[in-house]
Amino acid sequence: MKKLVYLSTIFFLALSANAQDPVSPPQTGQRVQPDPDRIITIETGNTSLVLKVSSRDGRLYQSYFGPRLGSTDSFSQQRNESHLAYATFGTDNLFEPAVRALHNDGNPSLELTYLSHETESLGKDATLTKIIMKDPQYPFEVTLFYKAFAASDVFEQWTEIKHNEKKAVTIYNYASSMLHFDAEKYWLTQFHGDWAEEMKARESELTPGIKILDSKLGTRAHMYQTPVFLLSLNEKADENTGQVLAGTLGWSGNFRFLFEIDEKNSLRVISGINPFASEYFLQPDQVFRTPSMIYTFTCKGTGQVSRNLHRWAINHGILDGTGSRYTLLNNWEATGFNFDEKKLTSVLDDTKKMGLDVFLLDDGWFANKYPRNHDRAGLGDWQENKAKLPNGLGYLVKEADERGVKFGIWIEPEMVNPKSELYETHPDWILKLPNRPEHYFRNQLVLDLTNPKVQEFVYNVVDGMLTANPGIAFIKWDCNRMMTNMYSTYLKDKQSHLYIDYVNSLYGVLDRLRAKYPSLPIMLCSGGGGRVDYGALKYFTEFWASDNTDPLERIYMQWGYSYFFPAISVCNHVTSWGKQSLKFRTDVAMMGKMGYDIEVSEMTENELKFSQDAIANYNRIKDVIYKGDLYRLISPYKENRAALMYVNQEKTKAILFSYTLNTRYGETINRVRLQGLDPSGTYTIREINVSNEGRSFMGMRGMTENGRSYTGDYLMNVGINAGSGTPLTSVVYEITK
Ligand code: DGJ
Repeated sequence: MKKLVYLSTIFFLALSANAQDPVSPPQTGQRVQPDPDRIITIETGNTSLVLKVSSRDGRLYQSYFGPRLGSTDSFSQQRNESHLAYATFGTDNLFEPAVRALHNDGNPSLELTYLSHETESLGKDATLTKIIMKDPQYPFEVTLFYKAFAASDVFEQWTEIKHNEKKAVTIYNYASSMLHFDAEKYWLTQFHGDWAEEMKARESELTPGIKILDSKLGTRAHMYQTPVFLLSLNEKADENTGQVLAGTLGWSGNFRFLFEIDEKNSLRVISGINPFASEYFLQPDQVFRTPSMIYTFTCKGTGQVSRNLHRWAINHGILDGTGSRYTLLNNWEATGFNFDEKKLTSVLDDTKKMGLDVFLLDDGWFANKYPRNHDRAGLGDWQENKAKLPNGLGYLVKEADERGVKFGIWIEPEMVNPKSELYETHPDWILKLPNRPEHYFRNQLVLDLTNPKVQEFVYNVVDGMLTANPGIAFIKWDCNRMMTNMYSTYLKDKQSHLYIDYVNSLYGVLDRLRAKYPSLPIMLCSGGGGRVDYGALKYFTEFWASDNTDPLERIYMQWGYSYFFPAISVCNHVTSWGKQSLKFRTDVAMMGKMGYDIEVSEMTENELKFSQDAIANYNRIKDVIYKGDLYRLISPYKENRAALMYVNQEKTKAILFSYTLNTRYGETINRVRLQGLDPSGTYTIREINVSNEGRSFMGMRGMTENGRSYTGDYLMNVGINAGSGTPLTSVVYEITK
């Protein structure tokens, strides 16, 4: 590994005479003549981030962030020093800081000057640049980390804060990243919603002042706002043109993205954990590490930022991103809490009959004193319910095995119903306020994961179940409420640590579990898509995007997720939500990680046959969907239809999904121009998932392109028929070179 290390000669002196903390700084240096400006360049394949250490004041500034430059020599002459790379509070910064601290002697100001930096190569795709800055008057150190991924054009940035003062230092702000932009206009796209309405995109122009996207929900933290955004410079975001930044925070708790336009129309974007009600008392030598801010920039529009993030996520962001995924049959929509062993055995038969990989047993299988027959009782008591499962989970694992399918199971180990043995035995393990009534959401409370005993309990719930039943092949990890009752008996006088320590404790438990079970597929669920971020996806193979599986709604939702998360991670199940045809429901689910949550025994013979064929099709093409490049062709936000396609890396196979949503009288909307193909290659089109029910070409003879061959050039410039005037119909083409 190649390492380049630089040390500053504008280093600061030992503590000044009037500083009140007599502790020696960890290192000292001598005052010498200032260096000329030092330029630090961090690059991906197509983007340069240029930072500069000013010879005037020793601070670190952002000089440039944009398309990759051939040389950065000219920056040493640039005198624009207004964009601090990591702005502090208390001296001369007049805008939002990235970091704010109260020193142990009561001094509320922080100053940071450059100390040293180094860049190391992490194999052929990535470099890690580490820049250390210190307060000249206090032994307080901030290190900025930038991981730059060449091939995917993605930056991962985080910060470490530590000090060696005499007593704890309170930190109030601790951003993961701070970026500056100078454009005429700034367009922000946010993705907000609620339960069953996740990921609704809305674009608005930023105006001078501050706009914040954040969460204060603690757990299930992304229920109203997902920690992602698109920032488009000058023009509104376009799929194929324009300068766009896509950003997302890898943190499963409260996040904050702050956009501030100053009097000169410069924009600063500060991203990280939400500092709301979260001042942190940092002990000497304790390291505060922020989560990673993940971002990518392009001049080629939103399509390219998505492809960048997907490539990065598959290779670096998601557990087993380069692997494959199981298809599931889940019982939640079909049975709810109402099942027994006989019913489940028949669902195992259905799993086999459909050609699916895993039967996933959902909520309701546990608790005896307060049986989990509804959501008002039993949560926390993770023993098989004897009435429903007299022979235990082991029996179902064995039955699954005998049928050649796998068995998966639902858990929600971070939560408790007040009507449970866990609540009765360990009232002090639960977040609840002294002198206040308990506040419930879905009749449950959050366990205090900051308490090591609770961490041990949660670990043992999972480990105990997997040890007793080694055949369990899949887990769905749910989390059905946000945090209220914000008080931890364990944290005592450090209540403001709760939001942060909770998430870090959860990661601690997941680290332990992943050390023992490195590759077990686990679906991340949070009452729908309430916990969707790359902090969690390091531990999870996929996520449940929403409880709303109505395919019309899903087209918008999955469209939203597709900006930031690759199809391999987005679980889409065919269910009975919505009135659309089975074909339409299947075609919508297929654009991601397809599964089923449906009563198979109620299917007609035709429906069963259609589904079996669709699953076989899916197994043949899923690798292209999981790992191909995504091209969003026609947005449902702009037209009465939606179309998107995936193309494999070799450009030999593509899958096109086209959905007609609604139509006006006389409207013909069927032509789609493809993208991402080899222009000189010849491609043959095969229509798959053909069914007369809900098929877009119903009654339109000759409209299907099935069996025809075209050049890539033709497909991309002239286009093909892939839709109809009939609302809620769809077509899927497998396109092979
Ligand atoms: C919420 C999840 O989103 C559903 O899929 C289901 O698992 C229920 N919880 C079970 O309680």
